[in-house]
Amino acid sequence: MTNLGVLVSGNGTNLQAIIDAIEGGLLDSKVKVVISNNPGAFAIERAKRHNIPTEIVSNKTFPAKEDYDRRLVEILKEHSVDLVILAGFMRILTHVLINAFPMRIMNIHPALLPAFPGLNVQKKALEHGVKFSGATVHFVDEGIDTGPIIIQAVVPVYDDDTEEILSARILQEEHRIYPQAVKLFAEGRLEVKGSRAIIKDSPTTEGAMENPSVTMFKEMDECLSKSSKK
Ligand code: GAR
Repeated sequence: MTNLGVLVSGNGTNLQAIIDAIEGGLLDSKVKVVISNNPGAFAIERAKRHNIPTEIVSNKTFPAKEDYDRRLVEILKEHSVDLVILAGFMRILTHVLINAFPMRIMNIHPALLPAFPGLNVQKKALEHGVKFSGATVHFVDEGIDTGPIIIQAVVPVYDDDTEEILSARILQEEHRIYPQAVKLFAEGRLEVKGSRAIIKDSPTTEGAMENPSVTMFKEMDECLSKSSKK
C-alpha cells in the first residue's frame, strides 16, 4: 500500500480521478493527506467528502519559500507519505521539499513536455499552431516542469479550438494517465535511469498518430504501399 500526499491549489479534478481509482479498486494506495496553499480550493471540499485529512498552508504564514516547504515536509512526514502528488499545485518547489522526497514527487502538466513548460500552456499551444498537444506526468526535479517523464497522452488540436475546449480535451486525458502513473509507482515498476523514467515490463507498441486524420493521406498511403511492393 502506497501512502499518498496530494498538493492542490484549485478545482482538484485530478485528485478526484486518483480517489476514484482507489475507491474503484484499481489502485492500491491511500490518500493520507491533501494540502492546499489556497483556502478556497474546491479540492479541499472533495477531500472532506471522502474523509481525507486536509491542511491549508497559507503563503502568508510562511513568506520564505524554504520555510513554506519545510512545513509541507513536516506534514507529509507526519502522515507517513511515500509519494507526493502535485495536482494543480501552483507553486514552484524548493530543494527543501525535493530533497526530502527524491524521485518521489510527481507532477502533471497540460502539455507535451518539454514543449510549453510554465503557465497558460494551452493558450501557448494554440498560438503556436501545433497539431497535437497533450498531458505529461513526470517526476519533479529542481527545474520548472522538467524531470523524468513517466507517461504522456496526446490529443489533437483543431483549428476552431478555444483555450477552454483544448484544456477540457487535455484534462480528460490527465484523469486517465495520472492514476496510471501512480499505479506504476505503487507496483514498483518505475525505474529512473539518468533523465529517463523506465517502465519495467511494459509491452512495446508500434504506430503513429496523425492530425488531420489519416483518411486525408489515403492516396499517399496507397501510393507508398504500391511502391513498397515493387
Ligand atoms: C490541470 O490541468 C493540471 O495539469 C494543471 O492545472 C490543472 C489542475 O486541474 N497544472 C499545471 O498547470 C501545473 N503546472 P485540477 O485542479 O482540476 O486537477
